[in-house]
Formats: sequence, structure tokens, C-alpha cells
Amino acid sequence: MCGIVGYIGTQAATDILIAGLERLEYRGYDSAGVATVEADKINCVKAKGKLFNLREKLEQTENKSQIGIGHTRWATHGKPEEHNAHPHLNADMSLAVVQNGIIENYLELKSELISKGIEFRSETDTEVIPHIISIFLANSSSLLEAVQKAIARLEGAFAIAIVDANNPFELIVARQQAPLILGFGQGEFFCASDITAVLPYTRTILNLENGEIARLTPLGVEIYNFAGERISRFPRTLDWNPVQTEKQGFRHYMLKEIYEQPAVVRTCLDTYINPNWHADENPDYSPVNIGLTPNLTDDLKHIQILACGTSWHAALVGKYLLEQVSGIPTTVDYASEFRYSPKPIIPNTLTIGVTQSGETADTIAALESERARRADLEPKFQAKLLAVTNRAESSIAQICDRIIDTQAGIEIGVAATKTFVAQVMGFYFLSLDLAFRQKTISNSRIGEIIEGLRHIPSQIETILDTQAEYIEELAHDFTAETEDFIFIGRGINFPIALEGALKLKEISYIHAEAYPAGEMKHGPIALLDNKVPVVAVAMPGSVYDKVISNAQEAKARDARLIGVTTAMNATEAAHTFDDMLTVPEVDELISPVLSVIPLQMLSYHIAAIKGLDVDQPRNLAKSVTVE
Ligand code: AGP
Repeated sequence: MCGIVGYIGTQAATDILIAGLERLEYRGYDSAGVATVEADKINCVKAKGKLFNLREKLEQTENKSQIGIGHTRWATHGKPEEHNAHPHLNADMSLAVVQNGIIENYLELKSELISKGIEFRSETDTEVIPHIISIFLANSSSLLEAVQKAIARLEGAFAIAIVDANNPFELIVARQQAPLILGFGQGEFFCASDITAVLPYTRTILNLENGEIARLTPLGVEIYNFAGERISRFPRTLDWNPVQTEKQGFRHYMLKEIYEQPAVVRTCLDTYINPNWHADENPDYSPVNIGLTPNLTDDLKHIQILACGTSWHAALVGKYLLEQVSGIPTTVDYASEFRYSPKPIIPNTLTIGVTQSGETADTIAALESERARRADLEPKFQAKLLAVTNRAESSIAQICDRIIDTQAGIEIGVAATKTFVAQVMGFYFLSLDLAFRQKTISNSRIGEIIEGLRHIPSQIETILDTQAEYIEELAHDFTAETEDFIFIGRGINFPIALEGALKLKEISYIHAEAYPAGEMKHGPIALLDNKVPVVAVAMPGSVYDKVISNAQEAKARDARLIGVTTAMNATEAAHTFDDMLTVPEVDELISPVLSVIPLQMLSYHIAAIKGLDVDQPRNLAKSVTVE
């Protein structure tokens, strides 16, 4: 959480910093600030609330400085007030720091600094950093050296950027367990929490690694390790298209991203399905090209998946597929729980981290702890780590043996949509690959599933074409007085009920819960009356009749019933449901990628009609880089 950006070059820094922060605002938007160096002084401007407040303040001043740092905040230590906004300054206001992360030992450092007579202006953990650097500067030969010494005092996960009025031609940055990239332009250099901030200016990028510190000057970039030794690193050129990060005429990013889903699935299919594989030819190679090496798959007896939020829901669909298609016992845990209560060690286990951002602190820590606790054991117990991520350049990609790149393109809306569908696609590919290797289902069944997957893009298009108006109309019924929603589903569609509820909570602030449909009668049914709508994911297949019965039980308690079902089933289902969101006919095994679409649209329209900030809902951040 929090986004940091820095610039040194030939252009006006403030404009670049603000444009960069706009692209990082998804990481946090409680307050924002920039600090530039002008006439040997730090000029620091901050504002509470969204970035436009800061932009308004900056419009009143002219600032031609060519070096500066900026920050958009998701509050951890200290309320979202202007005095807690970054940058934070040292006592004589000559040095400014922005930070993404948490300084865990800040209380100890703060009391040490207070005992030296330093007065603090904020409640943040970050403010200790400029004060410590400032103290070390007095006895150091350079700003770089002072920063190195200061970092040695810090504990926690952080990415920082520093400017100093007494060293006006350098920008120092450092990374320890929080993302930080460098951008290389013509006579100008950038740093940011995410490449999106620098894409309009350069596609030449270098990912700073943990334990590295960089000195950016108008002449170039020098990289050192925390011990002060110079390191040689080479940037790479990305083939990202900056247009991907524009709204392209849609009212919100979330809506644009919902509509991008057919294209995302097409890209996934083109990337991973082997076009030469034909079930009837009995091929001896896998139907999918996900590049799993034998050391990850041979003798595989158990899979454990670790994830948070929406990625956890994708993991639950994955569990169903890996067990039912590949026949491999699979567990799914919240990464935040697993890291403190790890499961007993099972040999021949593949551990999968699912994270669209690749930067979720809990997921990364859970995978790292898994690697560490198995490190000294015999080979069959060693950690085998696979990431399912949308960011091939992210931290998770660095720590895993292999990644499945979900190819969804950047997702800006805080509520995940297209990345969820792409993660689920990743699990289809993985389960088919393992099923083929372990011969758990026939080639003809594999062929059938692949055929079904090939229809998904056009089927999602059908849902978007035929349901959009109806769902928008329906959404009006739930914007004024509805305070609670219940979602139910079973089997492979239970995770879709969970995802529908999470989407609604996140962006419309309506309380929503999801249950396996059969569980309602064990307690939650007590919540139902005519004020609590129930959404039932009732896709034809093994549990269809059961879900319909459970929905009837809700109807008998006066709940308004909204069904997600297939068009062919609509006539029959009309007897049960008050409202129906229909999707094309589909194999139950593939149905989650279709049944989730109307739920995304319903939550989107409810939030949009309520006039809420769909793309940046309150209290949330896209990338949760703190514990
Ligand atoms: C999704 O809509 C949420 N914003 C959130 O639950 C998210 O899925 C979670 O924070 C995990 O993020 P990750 O996929 O980047 O790890």
C-alpha cells in the first residue's frame, strides 16, 4: 500500500510526480504530498484526501524544480490527516523522505530521537527516517553513506526515496521487501512503486531488489547493496502499451476491466493451449504449455494454495479443479493465517501463491516461510513454489520456482475482475496439465474441457451484450434501502458466491455474506426476511437441484431471490427466482468464469448508481504491501 514516485531530470518535477501519483493512487488515497528541491530549500506540499486536493494546492504555485519525490498514502500509523501525509522532513526541513511499508522498530527509534531533543510533527513510523539520516549526515562523506547508515537502523519492510536540499542533484532510493522500480529516460531518471507511474515516459525499467540502494543523478544511476558495495545491473525494455492504463471511454476502470474479460481469456487460451494437441491423436505431450518442470510435478501428492481476498476465491475454484480433474488432494489457506499457523509438512507438495499484484505482503511472507521451514529437509520435503500472478516482474515472481502469468494486462480498479477470471483460467491450465501427466481423466474429456474453454470469450461477450441493461435496471432496486445481501452457491460455484459478496461489499458498502447453499439452514437462514435479497448461483450440473431447493427455502422466508443460471434453464428457474441473470449454456466445470460476470456487473451498477467511488473504494488499496 502507499505509492511512491521520484524524478530527477530536465523537466518540471512536480508535473511528473503528480502524473505518477495519479497512476499510483490505486495503492492508497487517504492523503498525498510532494517535495521538490528549489533554491537549496525543500518545498513540501501535502493535502488530506484524494490527489485532486493536492493538485489544487499545487496549481496556486509555480514550481520549476527538476528533482522531487511524491507519495500517495494508505494510512497505517496515524490518521489520514495532512500532518501525517508524506513526505516527512528532518528538523531543519532540509531533507525529505517518502516511504511505502512499515518501520517496525519506529517506537524505539522515536524515543531515542526524542531523548536527543527532536520534536516530531506526525504520528507516522516514517518520520523517524529523515531525522536519523540527518543525524548521520553530520558525520558522513555523502548523502548515500548517511542513508546507508540510517537503513542499518531500520527494521521492517520498506521502500524509500529521499531528497536533500544540501545535495540538490541526487535522489537516493532503497528497497527492503517493498516494491520499487527505476525508470531510465533520456537525461532523466525515475523511481516508483509500480511501473505504471513511469510508463508514459520510459519503458526501460530496472526492478530494484531487496537490500539495494540507488543514487539517481542527472547523469545516471548507481546501484549499491546495503553494505555500500557497487553492483552492476542492467535495465530491460518492456513492451507495455501505456494505452492499457487509460479508461478508454468507460466511466470507470472497473467497467472497462469487466468488458476486457473476453480479450483476456482469448489471450490466456492463445498463450497456454497447445494448438497442435488433438485428443483423438493420443499425443504424448501436454495439451497446455505452462512450462512446469518435472521437479515441480513428478511424484506430486499434495498441493497447498495460499492467497488473500479475491485471489483466495480463485484458489478455491482451483482446489475444486485440482481435486476433481487432476485427482490431487489440495488445501487452500488464507496466506495471512498460514504464515502464523502453518500446516504439518507433507512430502511431495507443490505450494502455489495466487496474487494478481504479486506484491501482497501476507502471500509473499507465507511462501517465504514455507521455503524456509522446508530448507534443511530431505529432497522430497523441499519447497516447490509456483505463483499464479498477473505481474511477471513482481516480488512473488522472484521468490517462486515458476510462475503462471495470467496475462490480464494491468488492472487499475481496486475491485479485481479480469484478474480473477484470468487466475481461474490459470487453474484450468494447471489442472489439465497435471491431469494429463497423472492420467486422471481421459484425453477425450481433456479435449471436451478445452473445447468448452474456447467458447468462454464469446460467451462472456453474450452476457455483456444481453445482460448489461437488465442488470443496470435491476441494480436500482438495491441502492436505497438494501443493507444486507446473501449469496449462495455450491460446489465449484460456491467460490463465485463468495466473490459476488466480496465485490458488493468492497464497492457498494452493502453488507454481504456468502454461504454454501446447504449451510443456510444451519444458521444464516435466520437472517432472512423481505429486506434481505438472496443471490443464488444455480448453474446446471451436479448440484443444480440442490441449489434450487435451498433457494426455495429462502423464498419461503420472503427473501427476494435473484438467480444466476443458464438461458436454457430460465423457464424452469422462473418458477423459483424473482429476477434472473442468465448466462449461456456451459459445462458445470467451466461455469464459474461465466457465472461471476453478472455478479461483477450487479455490484458495479449498484455502486455506480449510488454515486460511490467505484475504482477507489474507501479504506482499500489495490496492492496490500503491509501485513
Ligand atoms: C479484490 O477485489 C480485492 N481488492 C482484494 O481482496 C485482493 O484480491 C487481495 O487484496 C489480494 O490481492 P492480490 O491478488 O494482489 O494478492
